[in-house]
Amino acid sequence: MFQIGPFKIDSSCVLAPMAGVTDAPFRRLCREHGAGLATSEMVTSDVRLWKSSKTQGRLASLKQEHQPVSIQIAGSEPAMMAEAAKQAVELGAQIIDINMGCPAKKVCKKLAGSALLQNESLVADILTAVVNSVDVPVTLKTRTGWSPDERNGTRIAGIAEQCGIQALTVHGRTRACRFEGQAEYDTIAEIVGQVSIPVIANGDIDSPEKAKQVLENTGAAALMIGRSALGAPWIFKQINHYLATAERCSDISLDHKLKTVSRHLKELTEFYGEIKGARIARKHVRWYLGESASAKKFLKHFNTLNTSQSQTEAVVAFLSRPKSHEENVA
Ligand SMILES: Cc1cc2nc3c(=O)[nH]c(=O)nc-3n(C[C@H](O)[C@H](O)[C@H](O)COP(=O)(O)O)c2cc1C
Repeated sequence: MFQIGPFKIDSSCVLAPMAGVTDAPFRRLCREHGAGLATSEMVTSDVRLWKSSKTQGRLASLKQEHQPVSIQIAGSEPAMMAEAAKQAVELGAQIIDINMGCPAKKVCKKLAGSALLQNESLVADILTAVVNSVDVPVTLKTRTGWSPDERNGTRIAGIAEQCGIQALTVHGRTRACRFEGQAEYDTIAEIVGQVSIPVIANGDIDSPEKAKQVLENTGAAALMIGRSALGAPWIFKQINHYLATAERCSDISLDHKLKTVSRHLKELTEFYGEIKGARIARKHVRWYLGESASAKKFLKHFNTLNTSQSQTEAVVAFLSRPKSHEENVA
């Protein structure tokens, strides 16, 4: 349990914002499996672009979400970021998260996301403008710095605290490291020691044991899980159980998997419509099934299916099939 402004977050494990992944159906699934918070995919701070169907989709139905609703915004102009924060709050955001962690070229070439870490005074201007523009808590997602030679994450954390940021997520890599190498938990621990706002540790947490180790080694208030939740929304429940008892909970049953995947596909269709929902379902099903040869073969057929019902029937039949000897020993 930790606190972001007035909100008590009842699990110390939260879902990472992931563009193209953490849409409303996936956020709901993760919250119901024990994620304490599920921030939206990032939206641009250029509110003129919010009319696009992509952003409309990202901002749809916020008022029906699990609370608190956290919206991530990305941009580099303090006034635009402040306006975007205001409008996000009008649409239902109860927390505004600022993205200074994303290394994607599309984001960085506009000097947003983690590219901002190069310019500390601009960071301060953006954070101040956003904090002053809304009455809800503002959080920041950042990295340990711009590059291994300029690991300024600790200074950025200090600036964030001074500007009124109420919680800080740190992905334990520099911008230059993108997703390579090991997450540096030592730098996260250093940041935790420097600030008194809650710090959420992020990067490569892929098991309940690793989660406990990272919490203990960094002293962070909470953990953020990204890639390990793909095809495994139950990881939050597993981590919460382990943190509470130091024991693994029982394996996720086939019945629970079938129900979760079926519901996920149904909700994708309800949210996006039949055609787009079925297309988006393909990547999630690939994550649910993993990398085995039989899964790869099945996906070739699955990816030709265009309706939620045919997809659900196929995936349920595949997951329920008796396993061959080779699959059992693999
Ligand atoms: C597909 C994908 C999309 C991402 N999109 C965002 C994003 O929109 N905003 C953001 O702050 N970080 C984004 N990230 C970074 C994650 O939030 C997280 O910091 C990173 O994946 C490290 O955590 P992990 O090792 O648990 O995956 C994205 C990561 C992935 C894999």
